[in-house]
Amino acid sequence: MPDRPRLILIVDDDRQVRDVLQQIFQSAGYECRLAKDGAEGLDVFRLEQPALTVTDLKMPGMTGIELLQAVRQVDAEAAVIVLTGAADVKTAIDSLKLGAYDFIMKPVNVDELLIAADRALERRQLLIDRQRYQEMLEHRVAQATQHLIAAYRELESTYDATLEALGSALDTRDVGTESHSRRVHGYALATAREYGVPDAELRDLAHGVLLHDIGKIGIPDSILLKPGKLTPDEWEIMRTHPEIGKRLCEKIPFLRNAIPVVYCHHEKWDGSGYPRGLKGDEIPLGARIFSVVDAFDAMTFDRPYSRAIPFEAAKSEIRRCAGSHFDPAVVEAFFRVPESLLAEIRRLSVAP
Ligand SMILES: [Fe+2]
Repeated sequence: MPDRPRLILIVDDDRQVRDVLQQIFQSAGYECRLAKDGAEGLDVFRLEQPALTVTDLKMPGMTGIELLQAVRQVDAEAAVIVLTGAADVKTAIDSLKLGAYDFIMKPVNVDELLIAADRALERRQLLIDRQRYQEMLEHRVAQATQHLIAAYRELESTYDATLEALGSALDTRDVGTESHSRRVHGYALATAREYGVPDAELRDLAHGVLLHDIGKIGIPDSILLKPGKLTPDEWEIMRTHPEIGKRLCEKIPFLRNAIPVVYCHHEKWDGSGYPRGLKGDEIPLGARIFSVVDAFDAMTFDRPYSRAIPFEAAKSEIRRCAGSHFDPAVVEAFFRVPESLLAEIRRLSVAP
């Protein structure tokens, strides 16, 4: 919008009227541009965008009403006052409906004209101020939204990195290889995709997988790291880790979405697992996926207490346990993951 609050465009086909109006406005401190008809008026308007246009209604060629409509196309807040003879009051009233700010009867009364001009300019200024304020607000909202999005992304990536670090730390203490959680994480996501888990749910699954054994924090080293076989009493303690993990995650809001996998990752399809002996679909899907890929990784990677076996041998063992330990549908989904992808996940999961 232009910022020339004292510029007035006068459009009238009668030269005398134009001159009189110019004198009136100039003596009141306004700057004036004159046009002899609507077409010329529109050209001047486009070029200079005056704060106020005062136009006659009846002119040869473009009428005052047509000019009014044209200038409001250029500037929706354009202030226009129309001048009219007594015979044409109805058209003048119509012009108000089309957006004219006011109309003045000819012969023009100086005071009336100046008051109308002042009022029109004041109203226009209010509209401009309001629009600027609106734009400023919109700009601030857009800026604040950008900052929020950036902060949220940062938080999300910090969160993911924290969980990954925690998962690796847990692995190092237990399994002795920190890339275990990264591999199982990759296998689980690939299997979940094959199974048809929606993308929106993959993040929760991933966090559950990374933290599945978080409850082992509460298991004494003498049991967790014992080289030989555990006694029945020690097993009893070891089997409390899903419960400990669940209690831990319940206390920390950003870990809560990991609970289904943390609490249920030792459940078995046939109900022979622990801690609750859940059966079939009672076991959360994330935990059912986890147990397949965890078993696969345990078999195909050297651990302190067992040597790795080839992919094929591990797969046939998993097939053998489908329906007992594992959800057969999850096993099928896992088998659909191309072996090249499994090998790639394994290669990329090597600790840096
Ligand atoms: Fe576990």
